This record gives sequence, C-alpha cells and structure tokens, in this order.
Amino acid sequence: MNKIDINTKLNEIPFIKIISELAKREGVKIYLVGGFVRDLILNRQRNDIDILVIGNGPDFAEKSAKELEVNNLVLYKNFGTAHFTFDDYDVEFVGARKESYDRKSRNPVVENGTFEDDINRRDFTINTIAISINDEDFGLVIDRFNGIQDIKDKIIRTPIDPLITFNDDPLRILRAFRFASQLQFEVHDSVMIAANQLRERLKIISQERITDELLKILESSKPSVGLKLLFISGVLEIIFPEIHQLAGVEQRKDYHHKDVFFHTCEVVDNVSSKTDNIWLRFAALVHDIAKPNTKKFIDGIGWTFHGHEEIGARMIKNIFKKYKLPFHKIEYVEKLVRLHLRPIALASEEVTDSAIRRLIVQAGDKLDDLITLCRADITSKNIQKVEKYLENYDLVMRRVKEVEEKDKLRSFQSPVRGDEIMKVCNIPPGKKVGLIKADIEEAILDGLIPNTYEAAFEYLLKIKNKYLNSDI
Ligand code: CTP
Repeated sequence: MNKIDINTKLNEIPFIKIISELAKREGVKIYLVGGFVRDLILNRQRNDIDILVIGNGPDFAEKSAKELEVNNLVLYKNFGTAHFTFDDYDVEFVGARKESYDRKSRNPVVENGTFEDDINRRDFTINTIAISINDEDFGLVIDRFNGIQDIKDKIIRTPIDPLITFNDDPLRILRAFRFASQLQFEVHDSVMIAANQLRERLKIISQERITDELLKILESSKPSVGLKLLFISGVLEIIFPEIHQLAGVEQRKDYHHKDVFFHTCEVVDNVSSKTDNIWLRFAALVHDIAKPNTKKFIDGIGWTFHGHEEIGARMIKNIFKKYKLPFHKIEYVEKLVRLHLRPIALASEEVTDSAIRRLIVQAGDKLDDLITLCRADITSKNIQKVEKYLENYDLVMRRVKEVEEKDKLRSFQSPVRGDEIMKVCNIPPGKKVGLIKADIEEAILDGLIPNTYEAAFEYLLKIKNKYLNSDI
C-alpha cells in the first residue's frame, strides 16, 4: 500500500484530522499502531483503532473526547489507557511505555517510554508498524522491524529474541498461533522453538485468556492451522491435554486407522467450511474426545472405540468447567457428541420409521447441525467412499423429511400433558405421572399410535390401570 492509498484510507476516518490538529496544538506526537495498521496493510476492514500517544495517553484521550464531543470516555489511569467510541469506531489511546517483567507474573512493571521503547516491546513484527498522524509527516509509515515485508511473506516472527518476547508475556505464544490461523500465515522456526521451550509459562495465564485465544483459532476460516501449530509446538499438551491425547492412536498394517488428532483437525475444518457457528466447530473438536479412553484392539476387527460417543458426551460438562466455557452451551455440545454416530447407523432403506422418529426427537432442533457434523466426519481420502457415505446421509435426511411430514415431530412432546394424566387417573404429581407420560411417548415413537391428541388420550385410558394397580 503506497502513501497515497494510506492517506486516502486515513481521510475516510472522520476524526483523524481533528485529533491530528489537536495533537499539534498540544505539542504531543500521536501514531496509529497495532492491529489496525496491520489490517490496513492487509486490506482487512476493522473499526477498532489503537492510538499511541508519546506522553500522557489518558490526558490526550480526555482532550480528544472533549474536542469530538464524545461522552463515553472510559479512563484506565492505572494502565495508562483510555477508550471511547466515535461513530462506528472503537478508539483506544495508550501512552508510550517501557515495560519490564517479573518472572512469576504476567503483569509488567510499566514506566513512561519513548516511541522506540513502545514499539520494541510489541509482540510480532507485523504488529510493530506505526503510521504517523502528526501534521508534519501525516501518513508516514514507520516500520522498524520489516513488518511490511513479513506481511508480504506471510510470516509471524518477533521483533526481538522470541524467548524474551514470550517470557515477558506467555499469552503471546497463543497469539502467534492465533494470528497464523486467522491470517493463514506461517510461524517462523524461532517462534516455534521458543514456544516449545516456554510452554510451561502458559500456566501463569488465566484460563479465560487462554480460552479466548483458543476460540479465536476455532473462529478462523481454517482452524487446523492453529490447532496443528499448538500440537507440533507441544503447547496443546499444556492448554488442552484431552485434545493432545487424540494424537498417536496406534495403527496396525491391515487395519489402517487414522490418527484421531489429525482426523479431528480435518473434521473441524470441514465443519468450518460450512458454518460460522463456533459451538458446532467446538463440538467437532471434541466429538471423539473419549476415543483414547475407549480404544481396544479386537482380533479380526482392528481398533474399536465402543461407547466413545456416550463417554465423550459425559466428559463435556467437566471440559466446559475446566476451560471456563459458557455453561448454556453444554447441552448443545453434549447432544452432538452423543449422537454423532447415530445417523449413519440409520442409513438403510430397511430402517423403521420408529428408529428415524427417535433420531428426530432426540436431536430436536439440533438435527441439521448434527448432520453437518456427521458429513464433516467423513475424512476418507477415497473419493468413491466419501460419495457413498454422503449419499447415506442424504438417504437418512430423506427419511427424516418423510417421517416429519407424516407426523410433525421436531418439537415432540406427548399430546396428553401431565396435568391431564393426573386428572384422569386421579393421582397427585409424582413418579407415576412421568411413567405414564413416557409410555404414551414411546407408543408414538414406536408407531403404535399416531401423534394425535385423540389417539394418545385413548391410549392413556387403555394403559392407566396397569400403573394405578402397581405399587411403584
Ligand atoms: N500487543 C502485544 N502483546 C500482547 C498484546 C498486544 O505486544 N500480548 C500489542 C501488539 O502490538 C498488538 C497491539 O498491542 O498489535 C494491540 O493488541 P490487541 O488489540 O490485543 O491485538 P491486535 O493486534 O489489535 O489484534 P486483534 O484485535 O485482532 O486481537
């Protein structure tokens, strides 16, 4: 991007000229820095802008807010930063700083610094580029560490020795892999080596920040880039051992079973090519999580993983707790893991309506996502096999549509509700009511009676004495 292009882009931002003039009046130097500059050069649209102030950041932010008549300024005086929004832009001001670090903590000892001090302490060369928005050299690009060349070469490297960069802030190890995954860049060997050497340092980082980076990798268009870097560097073993353990499933010549970790990477990429739904992507990441625990070799058959879908589903709650993921997504991920083998088992013309009905009811409104996961789970390199398996899912979905049309099942519940069962049977709330309701639902699912109120009511009258006369 040349100077004219940069100036054009800067002039599109409504407040830049105004704060540039303010800086001149105040005798302060200001620069655009960080992700905004990186993405400007990459031609990626973004609305959060970091402004480096050589001097007091919050002070200049306050004056800018006044000048722009902004009233949502938030000052973080302890951190020397301040933030406001203007039009669609998130604007962050930071005073130039020099940082030194304590080995045990991620929190730096911060002192005021020069422009150079500030740029030198940044994480990757692609993030060290600054653009002056000062009157005398407006639009001048300052690239002390050849960041522009590294953007062109698509490479992530640190401006100084990566051992120092990562030791200062170990979260940067994950940021390296996250940027590689988001931007489809390579990671320099020196970064990989330092990441491996310092991976234990990640233990001082809060789980929330680690999870945040992991989810950003999953949000990228090809998450396997980041996942494989995590694995190869040995970092995955520290931050997500359950996924690390998927690697290295033993293979026997005749029963060539794919390595579960690399298979999982492919499944995550396949899902990601179909959807931005991060929880569906996460379900893909963990769908085989119980394979290492259930792995068994059976002569004549090969490696088996009996029950891994159920055991995997039962692991999900703890995974969510451990990795501080949002609890309201547990049920969704559990369900997809639990059911991920079910549809393929139903891929035959001979399968009964009742088996299809059970799938519809159990998957509920997650059925379409489940099928997306199942399709993504086919990672065979044999194109004919892949086509055959995909056809099987088409067949299952055709049957699903037929059965759904027949009895409108997606949001299934017994047409006779608990209250009515209590009234008809003259019984108080309790276990019997649930059993009778479940019996009616089973009868519908098995196709014994149609999914209508009349049929369910008639069936209730028929079965009620069996329950009333028993002493459950
Ligand atoms: N930075 C750093 N080390 C960190 C975090 C941030 O050196 N651990 C620096 C980098 O120069 C980075 C800038 O601060 O570009 C802004 O950080 P942040 O907003 O977290 O990241 P961005 O690079 O803007 O990227 P994104 O918003 O996509 O995360």
